[in-house]
Amino acid sequence: MTLQSTSGNEPILDVQGIKKYFPVTGPLGRLGGIKGQVKAVNDVSFKVFKGETYGLVGESGSGKSTTGRTAMNLIKPTAGKVFYKNKNIFDLSKKELRPVRKELQMVFQDPFSSLNPRIRVGDTLEEPLVIHSLLANKNERRERVFEILDKVGMQAEHYYRFPHEFSGGQRQRLGLARALISNPEIIICDEPVSALDVSIQSQVINLLQQLQDEFQLSYLFITHDISVVRHISDRIGVMYLGKIVEEAPTESLFETPLHPYTQALFSAVPGKHRAQKRERIVLKGEIPSPLNPPTGCMFHTRCPFAKDICRTEIPQKREMAPNHYVACHLYE
Ligand SMILES: Nc1ncnc2c1ncn2[C@@H]1O[C@H](COP(=O)(O)OP(=O)(O)OP(=O)(O)O)[C@@H](O)[C@H]1O
Ligand SMILES: [Mg+2]
Repeated sequence: MTLQSTSGNEPILDVQGIKKYFPVTGPLGRLGGIKGQVKAVNDVSFKVFKGETYGLVGESGSGKSTTGRTAMNLIKPTAGKVFYKNKNIFDLSKKELRPVRKELQMVFQDPFSSLNPRIRVGDTLEEPLVIHSLLANKNERRERVFEILDKVGMQAEHYYRFPHEFSGGQRQRLGLARALISNPEIIICDEPVSALDVSIQSQVINLLQQLQDEFQLSYLFITHDISVVRHISDRIGVMYLGKIVEEAPTESLFETPLHPYTQALFSAVPGKHRAQKRERIVLKGEIPSPLNPPTGCMFHTRCPFAKDICRTEIPQKREMAPNHYVACHLYE
């Protein structure tokens, strides 16, 4: 893990005010008209710097994957901008996007499980080299795949095998190999270890960190797992119902979680977090539906400290300590 200063340094990825609303239709589909909108991402901003790991953490349905997919330009946002090296990726032509696609890669939970079982791993790994016209010669491509297989702790002979012949951990290494082969600047990792056993999780996380150091990679690391996000991230954004409610350097966030939601999230996890030494905060009720999100602060319906203002006004983020931001009326 390379700790980056967040000032005097241009971000690799700069996400500015993205919103993603999904239309909801009735049983007749679009014929019946739009019944409402799922506000999956609702005004999210953050930056990822060179060599840094930015963790996005939050409960299921908080909008983490939608944020990651928007930052990858896999889905178009309802509003907002995503700057990759100072260019808004949504303004780029197809041709201008091509080099960005090469440098901006994504790894999912189990990327190799959904592959065509009859295509050899080597051919899948070579694909980006063909798509981006990086190496024209088949032998050179194969050599490059051997090299990358070695980087992720696999062997050259694995080139000739089929996806089902690998364990979950090995498949995740192959997923990383495929992301790495085109020399990316940043990899968006969406729950890359969530499907793995804990011991295998730490191997893959160690590998991610090793590769980060070797190639000066930046990661946007998406997970619902507090221990994983704590271990790997330099800075963390905590998401709740489509918004980042708190953002801080990892140490500051775990030492002094400020948002009642962050405190509740941390206090529910066994471990030696400082939040544990406080009283355990049990949240009332379920996470509300993003189809009909609460007014004011998204968290007020479950917050033990909610005041009148929380029901009516959206809290703005404030810097409470260096690079430690919280959006909560309790701190105004
Ligand atoms: N294509 C879609 N159409 C409609 N609603 C969607 C779509 N994709 C996501 N959503 C909704 O948007 C919200 C956010 O989903 P998202 O997958 O981004 O959450 P997440 O934080 O990644 O959750 P998880 O931890 O379960 O992966 C959810 O309510 C989800 O149902
Ligand atoms: Mg997700």
